[in-house]
Amino acid sequence: MVGREQSRRDDNGRGSGAGSDSVIRLEPIGASNRKAVLALELSQDQQDLLADNASSLKEAARDDDARPRAVVAGDHVVGFLMYDASEGDDEALIYRFMIDRRSQGRGYGRAALSALLEEIRALAHVRDVLVCYMPENEGARRLYHSAGFVDEGADEDGEMIARLRFVRQKHGS
Ligand SMILES: CC(C)(COP(=O)(O)OP(=O)(O)OC[C@H]1O[C@@H](n2cnc3c(N)ncnc32)[C@H](O)[C@@H]1OP(=O)(O)O)[C@@H](O)C(=O)NCCC(=O)NCCS
Repeated sequence: MVGREQSRRDDNGRGSGAGSDSVIRLEPIGASNRKAVLALELSQDQQDLLADNASSLKEAARDDDARPRAVVAGDHVVGFLMYDASEGDDEALIYRFMIDRRSQGRGYGRAALSALLEEIRALAHVRDVLVCYMPENEGARRLYHSAGFVDEGADEDGEMIARLRFVRQKHGS
């Protein structure tokens, strides 16, 4: 039987090489990876789902709370994400998340989300993580739900908001 994953890979002519257990890391944006982040692409039908990376990096330059990251697999930048986890706010917000169209369907999105949640969990002031995505974005919905996010409903712009609550050990109990 040809499953969704198989047909997704065939449709895009990709899927060999990396596996879903691939090690990926998140890197702050700097001289070594900025060009590669700007060269990342989405497929035509995905381009309306989020702002392009050039706009996101410009936005990040004006916003001290923005934490932009390159998603790196081996020595290749395969994706980009951005979140906000301001001190004094116990909610972090993931508001950009993309994997280059040529690297999708290989487990990088799931691995990047897992690394990101680990990074955010290390911030002791954060209790909840929110993500936003377009309601018609089935790929994002499945990815976020598989990580434990639960939909809360659409915001005023029509974007779906989903929430994940960290379970933290209480010291001394
Ligand atoms: C969503 C996105 C980040 C997933 O990245 P990816 O590397 O292709 O994802 P993975 O290979 O790690 O797949 C993880 C899970 O995501 C879901 N998923 C990803 N693409 C999907 C698709 N086209 N259709 C349905 N589910 C999909 C599945 O649940 C998948 O797990 P499964 O294959 O075990 O069912 C990527 O498709 C992307 O960049 N899309 C465009 C931008 C976007 O939508 N960003 C998120 C909202 S801002």
